[in-house]
Amino acid sequence: MSTVQGPTPRWSALASKPSSSVIRDLLKLPAGVISFAGGLPSPAGFPLEDIAKACQTVIANEGKHALQYSMVEGEVALRREIARRETQKGIPTDYEQVQIVSGSQQALDLLARVFIDKGDKVLVESPTYMGALQAFDLCEPTYVSLPCDTKGLNPAEFTEEICRGAKFAYVMPTASNPTGLTISEERRKLLCEKAREYDMLLVEDDPYGELWYDKEPPASLRKWAPERVIRLGTLSKILAPGFRLGYIIAPADVLDKMAQIKQSMDLHTSTFTQLISAQVFSEDLLVRHLPSVRERYKTHANAMLDALAKYMPEGVTWTKPTAGMFIWVTLPEYMDATEMVKDVLAKKVAYVPGEVFYAADKVEKNHFRLSFVTVDPELIRQGVERLAEVIRLRIRI
Ligand SMILES: Cc1ncc(COP(=O)(O)O)c(C=O)c1O
Repeated sequence: MSTVQGPTPRWSALASKPSSSVIRDLLKLPAGVISFAGGLPSPAGFPLEDIAKACQTVIANEGKHALQYSMVEGEVALRREIARRETQKGIPTDYEQVQIVSGSQQALDLLARVFIDKGDKVLVESPTYMGALQAFDLCEPTYVSLPCDTKGLNPAEFTEEICRGAKFAYVMPTASNPTGLTISEERRKLLCEKAREYDMLLVEDDPYGELWYDKEPPASLRKWAPERVIRLGTLSKILAPGFRLGYIIAPADVLDKMAQIKQSMDLHTSTFTQLISAQVFSEDLLVRHLPSVRERYKTHANAMLDALAKYMPEGVTWTKPTAGMFIWVTLPEYMDATEMVKDVLAKKVAYVPGEVFYAADKVEKNHFRLSFVTVDPELIRQGVERLAEVIRLRIRI
């Protein structure tokens, strides 16, 4: 393969930074590996026929509009549908408070560009979403990691010293990626109180809030502190990630800055997928479609929890999610899940080593993330059995 790098270095400082290849490698796994590594939703849940119908309706009724450039804020039809859903959940929202983005990953990038200068303090859960760290890293913040306990993020960790001067705290109150944990209403309220007390913005990333198993999770943080919460949502996990549609609900001044920067990045998000999604929402298709997705995810989660209980040796613990796609496994402290990857792959199983979910100030290696929604229950059982064999060989009794 030819390269463009000559004697004079061409790459920017940013492009020259070494990047982690762990995830890219794990997504290129050979056939036959039982992969608990991906973070993809189950394609069995994509409502293909309904989307095909919505496409036809959009092309027939507003085809020329759908294929044209659009506004940076997003299509009013979709913004209205998103605002309607938020309002139905008890938090009155106007469409003007909604900015459409190209996946919530773009929202994370915009957040970094709008708020972070080199060295600025940013609070993150420990562990946190790797994709957020990657997006924020580009602007070189100083992270302060907030430890989570068995019930998720603990607002008691938000002391004045930690919060004062922070640009924002990035949190996933529902079905966190990677832990799968959901924090209680009490913790949410306390978190909002602390944010007010210490004048801090809260970024609430909520891709999994609709994917609950038995009971709807507590309300969005916006319920208790609408003036200081930047809420990120996405259609990736409830409709289709290929649409690349996410949204931000935030105070007007924040949205204004984000829109300015988004315009320079991509002018606007795809008009076509926005209008198809608005059509899907307006027919309440999601309301009809989500119960089967929730049921499927619950079945898979239970299959994995049963297998973990059956096969894992003593000394290994794991979270018990009530929503979402992930289980977080903790090994004894002396074990290293990154180093164990080669043995696990030799057994034709894959997970994501926990190390990649930590900000640089506090890295732990004795954890891994399991994703269960794209693997059939019988294969989940086999995969966990093989994983346990590898762990058993390394554990000190
Ligand atoms: C916590 C979290 N935030 C954001 C994203 C990005 O989602 P998307 O860009 O598809 O909306 C993901 C994807 O897995 C995620 O888990």
